Amino acid sequence: ALISSTVSLAADKSTLDSILDAGEMKVCFDAGYMPFEMKAKNGGFIGFDIDLAKQMAKAMDVKFTPVNTAWDGIIPTLLTGKCDIIMGGMTITAQRNLKVNFADPYVVIGQTILVRPELKDKIKSYRDLNNGEYTVATKLGTTGEAAVKRMLSKAKISLFETQADAVLEVSNDKADAFVYDLPFNALYASQNPDQVSHLEKPFTYEPLGWAIRKGDPDFLNFLNNFLRQIKGDGSYDRIYAKWFKS
Ligand code: ARG
Repeated sequence: ALISSTVSLAADKSTLDSILDAGEMKVCFDAGYMPFEMKAKNGGFIGFDIDLAKQMAKAMDVKFTPVNTAWDGIIPTLLTGKCDIIMGGMTITAQRNLKVNFADPYVVIGQTILVRPELKDKIKSYRDLNNGEYTVATKLGTTGEAAVKRMLSKAKISLFETQADAVLEVSNDKADAFVYDLPFNALYASQNPDQVSHLEKPFTYEPLGWAIRKGDPDFLNFLNNFLRQIKGDGSYDRIYAKWFKS
């Protein structure tokens, strides 16, 4: 009994301890998702998640190590220990929550729709898009894919590895619409006003949260208290304003 309890203590070591031992926090995200994470011209990464991750690493007095990962494999990458946490605008869903733990939501968004400008008088809501004559593009493995399959089941779906390729389908008239997270769509529409028209009203409810491996209450407790602190002391608001207000 003594031996087995020692072994289980060792196995229960929190990710928090391995971060401190290593002197670095390895953060998984998938760059290209504006304004949360983007590749900078100098090869580094910038964005809302990146600034929050840097602030968190600073609070632990460790180095921030970016781990840019394809979205489709991001949960397996966390579960196999290649990163310590996912900070990638991940929607907290019941299905994902069976595999990972989420800290409390750090922002709430929803899916919105970009349509070809010619369709803007015909398509006023997601319901108008639920029709076999329309093709809807979105990103593989996202809640955009889930929302299209669930709520636009009559439309044709066209899936892409990256959000950039998916949204280009609308710009290039190969798809009628693109479904994705509101912040990305709002920025894309403001940068490409002649190519897309934005239906700004979200049609899903999506709290975003940081994901960690299950069974780690110490790390979860750290994250929720860190979030409460930055929300209260003004640093969250400052970082939010930097990336969400133009
Ligand atoms: N919120 C959506 C989801 O959880 C999309 C997130 C995409 N994030 C990214 N870093 N590319 O599926």
